[in-house]
Amino acid sequence: MKVVLLILIYTLILCANSLEYEAGRDLYYGKGCSSCHGTNAEGSGQNPKLANRPKEYLMKKLVDFQNGKSNTQSGQIMFSFARSLNQKDINDISTYLSTLKKETSDKYDISDDILGSVD
Ligand code: HEC
Repeated sequence: MKVVLLILIYTLILCANSLEYEAGRDLYYGKGCSSCHGTNAEGSGQNPKLANRPKEYLMKKLVDFQNGKSNTQSGQIMFSFARSLNQKDINDISTYLSTLKKETSDKYDISDDILGSVD
């Protein structure tokens, strides 16, 4: 009985995560994030890569941007984009980005060239 319950709880958690993932993906494209951060969130130029960054990190950055906090001048670009998200949006979008499944395998990643691989 305990095992059945555990499997049930685990399935529910998986479902909840995949709902967040789907909602996050809709937001990522719907809010235009992809136009700067790339269709696979791979980043380019001064727009950082977001794919597979830790969820806590992404959430903290977005909340900081909402509060007008950034370490760089170019971070100000993000203030209005972050302010268009609510708490749930930030959670969904961070789940999506942190667990992003690669659509292409060996894609050339320009941000690794400029910044060096940080993974
Ligand atoms: C007009 C281009 C542009 C758009 C659109 C945009 N961003 Fe950004 N974003 C940037 C730039 C530039 C930075 C780097 C800011 C800095 O130097 O701190 C950044 C930084 C970030 C960071 C912090 C990453 C890190 O490693 O420091 C996150 C998270 C992020 N953006 C999420 C989003 C989300 C989510 C959206 C859509 C709601 C979005 N961005 C839309 C340009 C953009």
